[in-house]
Amino acid sequence: TRKVGILTAGGDSPGLNAAIRGVGKSVQGHYGMELIGFRDGFRGLMENRSMRLDGEQLSGILTQGGTILGTSRDKPHRMLVNGKPTDMTETIVRNYRQHRLDVLICLGGGGTQKNALRLKQQGLNIITLPKTIDNDVAGTDTSFGFDTALGIATEAIDRLHSTAHSHHRVIVVEIMGHRAGWLALGAGIAGGADVILLPEIPYDIRRVAEAIRQRARNGKRFSIVAVAEGARSLQQVARFRAIQKRKKKASNKHDKQRAREKLAALEADHLGNHTVRLSEQLEQLTGLESRVTILGHVQRGGSPSTADRLLATRLGSACADLIQQKCYGVMVAAAGEAAVPVPLEEVAGVKKLVPLDHPWILSARRVGTSLGD
Ligand code: F6P
Repeated sequence: TRKVGILTAGGDSPGLNAAIRGVGKSVQGHYGMELIGFRDGFRGLMENRSMRLDGEQLSGILTQGGTILGTSRDKPHRMLVNGKPTDMTETIVRNYRQHRLDVLICLGGGGTQKNALRLKQQGLNIITLPKTIDNDVAGTDTSFGFDTALGIATEAIDRLHSTAHSHHRVIVVEIMGHRAGWLALGAGIAGGADVILLPEIPYDIRRVAEAIRQRARNGKRFSIVAVAEGARSLQQVARFRAIQKRKKKASNKHDKQRAREKLAALEADHLGNHTVRLSEQLEQLTGLESRVTILGHVQRGGSPSTADRLLATRLGSACADLIQQKCYGVMVAAAGEAAVPVPLEEVAGVKKLVPLDHPWILSARRVGTSLGD
């Protein structure tokens, strides 16, 4: 019998358990293969921490949030060991062989696709599934987790509407999405946000304020601003670019390292404080009271939506078919109603950002939503 290993890596997403169940029940029940789970992403494979995944473990998890396997953001080639980033690829390859795995299934987002490709290049048989609430994995129509998060963020905007309206306030709601704005855009449109700010479109604070003032002149003294956590103003983009340039031009290691540290600090400061600063600025520029709501990890928690359960089960069972056919080195992607294998080389390192002419962008503009540009 063939032996299949499975792990979940990167930030968690609703639908991970549905996918583990989809893969697990199909490989065991349908194809009669053996299955073993590794805990906490690549770290569990490195430290040889595994768990049995038989009928009992796979039962009752379809609707559960999180991942029964646990997860981590550890990368095989840069794992913290005694506080130091260490390349643990060899250990991982050794453990894969010791377990006599025929294939390793990695459930994860963009980072996981890159790590999976690296392991493929070490000669391991790998299949991945796309999970992320950010919807930025390339090569697939969508990833599980996104639909659930979209629902949570939309409901939050609905609820913020009534309180913003009652108090005649601006409410700036921060939605996850470090690099890609799918979640802020989708929830912003579905929730009827008045302004939507995305990482893909640098915004002009004066235009954002003007959109809010215009609404006030029309008798609407409240506004909802949906802002992706990675959105930046034109000035902020310029500041980032200047340091990036400095890093590129640095002639010695020391200057390069300093620029790298500066960039990381700026990034951390931006992610932590940007939304509050934006709200303060809008209060000053519009004369309206403004409040901040940060949705945070609420967007990643809880039971998956119907669409995500369906997607995760579809991709999970298709993964078992691919194992049966020995079709390795691929991600199982959603293409319409079909699940298709896409080579990891086409997926790893490619981020699916919101194209500026995407139908969602055009619709938002048509209905009068300001995108801050
Ligand atoms: O990658 C998904 C994501 O939700 C991003 O939108 C966000 O920037 C990040 O995870 C935050 O993750 P964590 O708090 O787990 O580091």
